[in-house]
Amino acid sequence: MDILVTGGTGFIGGHLCAELVERGHTVTALARNPDADDLPDGVETVMGDVSAYDSIVESFGGKDAVINLVSLSPLTQPSGGNDMHDRVHRKGTENCLKAAEQHGVDRFIQLSALGADPSGDTHYIRAKGNADAAVKASSLDWTIFQPSVVFGDGGEFVSFTRKLTPPVLAPLPGGGSTRFQPIYVGDFVEILADSLTDESHIGAVYEIGGPEVLTLAEVATLARRARGQSVRVLPVPMSLAKIGLTVAGAIPGFPMGPDQYRSLQFDNTTTSNDIEAFGKTADELMTLSTYLGVSN
Ligand SMILES: NC(=O)c1ccc[n+]([C@@H]2O[C@H](COP(=O)([O-])OP(=O)(O)OC[C@H]3O[C@@H](n4cnc5c(N)ncnc54)[C@H](OP(=O)(O)O)[C@@H]3O)[C@@H](O)[C@H]2O)c1
Repeated sequence: MDILVTGGTGFIGGHLCAELVERGHTVTALARNPDADDLPDGVETVMGDVSAYDSIVESFGGKDAVINLVSLSPLTQPSGGNDMHDRVHRKGTENCLKAAEQHGVDRFIQLSALGADPSGDTHYIRAKGNADAAVKASSLDWTIFQPSVVFGDGGEFVSFTRKLTPPVLAPLPGGGSTRFQPIYVGDFVEILADSLTDESHIGAVYEIGGPEVLTLAEVATLARRARGQSVRVLPVPMSLAKIGLTVAGAIPGFPMGPDQYRSLQFDNTTTSNDIEAFGKTADELMTLSTYLGVSN
């Protein structure tokens, strides 16, 4: 297939492009500042900003499928403010859908996030929810993925956790009890690539998580242990965490505002892990501790 990966130069995009090329697909990665040197051999790049329709529409011509990975991180405050989430995630997705429809590209894979909800608690989650609604309302052959956090080389989850929890003592809301279900990027991109070529996935919304549920405190402990360090997590009352500044302010130079902090207070786990729709079982997925080379 000839595939356009919007946001294909990012963390998941780099790994996915490699997987797609290995499977014999023709791959083009679209981003605002694409650099072919950062991508696997054989991946074409094209410049475009999904929030500006005219800058992306031509790159959809002649494609068989689109995978939309464009993202602003939920963990850091966007430089243009939190309204950027709506502009990039919702409006950007609407522009990609429109461009796909204009060029008759039927297959559309959308990378959403667990908990995506138009009336959710953060700008990111609301924009993701609105983007999913636009995908579902389209006439395309869509599939939506809602993963928990994704880890692997180039990802920000583990390094973010380290920044959030300095060695020795780390204050976290609720003692770091928020739960995550991290999935390894290598496992996840296989699922994404499989979904492209199997029509049974059309019209499905999949919640995707890794093999184990870990609290933020457990992730922090593993991340620090992988560096030969230890950490003791101090509980911060949720009431203080709601204000969201006490701890965020304690991370020098870290662009985290109340919205980002709030996102750390909600569990990020699947209700039913849909990996089985792709023939995978939890025990064959990479665990975070195996990836980090430490015991659980
Ligand atoms: N990583 C995770 O743990 C995780 C968890 C759940 C869901 N997801 C979802 O998975 C998808 C991919 O995430 P990721 O971690 O790979 O993101 P990422 O590393 O931040 O990559 C984002 C990509 O989007 C591009 N981009 C950003 N703004 C753009 C714009 N206005 N127009 C065109 N391209 C733009 C970036 O390139 P430029 O900056 O050069 O434009 C980059 O290629 C996203 O939808 C994300 O919400 C990720």
